[in-house]
Amino acid sequence: MKILITGGAGYIASHTNIELLKEGHDLILLDNFCNSVPESVKRVEELSGKKLKFYEIDLLEVDKLDKMFAEEKYFDAVIHFAALKAVGESVEKPLDYYENNIAGSLNLYKAMKKYGVKNFVFSSSATVYGDPEETPVKEDARIGATNPYGHTKAMMEQILLDAAQAYNWNVVILRYFNPVGAHGSGRIGEDPEYPANLLPFVSQVAAGIREKVIVFGDDWDTIDGTGVRDYIHIVDLAKAHVKAVDKLSNDKGSFIYNIGTGRGYTVLEMIKAFSKACGHEVPYEVGPRRAGDIAEVLADPTKANNELGWKAEYGLEDMVNSAWKWQSMNPKGYRE
Ligand code: NAD
Ligand code: WQD
Repeated sequence: MKILITGGAGYIASHTNIELLKEGHDLILLDNFCNSVPESVKRVEELSGKKLKFYEIDLLEVDKLDKMFAEEKYFDAVIHFAALKAVGESVEKPLDYYENNIAGSLNLYKAMKKYGVKNFVFSSSATVYGDPEETPVKEDARIGATNPYGHTKAMMEQILLDAAQAYNWNVVILRYFNPVGAHGSGRIGEDPEYPANLLPFVSQVAAGIREKVIVFGDDWDTIDGTGVRDYIHIVDLAKAHVKAVDKLSNDKGSFIYNIGTGRGYTVLEMIKAFSKACGHEVPYEVGPRRAGDIAEVLADPTKANNELGWKAEYGLEDMVNSAWKWQSMNPKGYRE
């Protein structure tokens, strides 16, 4: 299939691109590099041995977007990764998040309609569930995002489902839980300058870039008092996109899937596993709870297991080992 990848230079897209290229798909990448660098695309080319066609476009630039669709003539599918994704920043700059994520997606959806593109995979997030009533959480759980970033994801899902209904689109919405780790080669990985998420932070502490990890509370109602999350290896997550694209070829309609393992780990378990991977203790200190945090959230991935034929294969050791390999091989990320 000929697939447009928005946010094509980002963390999840880079790993997904490798898996899609392995399956013989033809990829056209689009990114504005607001949270990525061209080097990630070069590395994907190097790993896959394929030259990639790339458009440096911001989804808010309607004319450039239209020109690209006109030039490419058709896409069999679009995978839409491009978004701003930092929860804390979204609380400080909600309008930037609504503009980039909602207006940007609307421009993309309108271009798809104009050019007759009907197959779509959307990067959604466990964040749409907010603080779920039950965990593991199923796809039909109440939507209750608690921050502007989460609201943009929930809104984009709804807009997409309405458009799918009206224009006969086929849509797969993937709600990712907590993506971590890196490609086995150590050549591509997550490259945040200031990490907002646990694992990249632990990784930078392990590398001596930061002094210590602050554990956000040890008085939660969990086995050791620290927060529990469903961490998913980035390569497993990437492979879920290949299955989503297959689903679009075989079935018509709109589908929503949780992409997680169904197994949770506490913050302390993550730090311990990382210490083993890097070969020394990762220093940490217990601090206060982070505003808006919840005790525990796990995916129920049964629907994705059964309907997509997808199942997470990698365990915790693979997640932390690959993250450490990427960190040690690229101490400055892509900014060598
Ligand atoms: P990322 O920041 O590495 O990738 C997103 C890419 O989109 C970046 O390369 C960025 O430059 C690009 N981009 C953003 N706005 C754009 C715009 N207006 N026009 C063109 N390009 C634009 O993030 P990621 O972790 O790879 O996340 C990919 C998707 O998955 C996002 O939609 C994110 O919300 C979603 N998601 C991520 C996580 C996570 O923890 N990483 C969890 C759940 C969902
Ligand atoms: C994990 C656990 C923290 C950092 C976020 C978004 C979600 C999705 C994934 C995009 C929690 C604890 C963290 C630290 C810590 N992203 N922690 N010290 O909050 O589950 O999910 O990323 O869609 O929308 O909300 O992930 O990695 O920030 O936190 O103790 O320095 O680690 O309290 O228990 P989270 P996280």
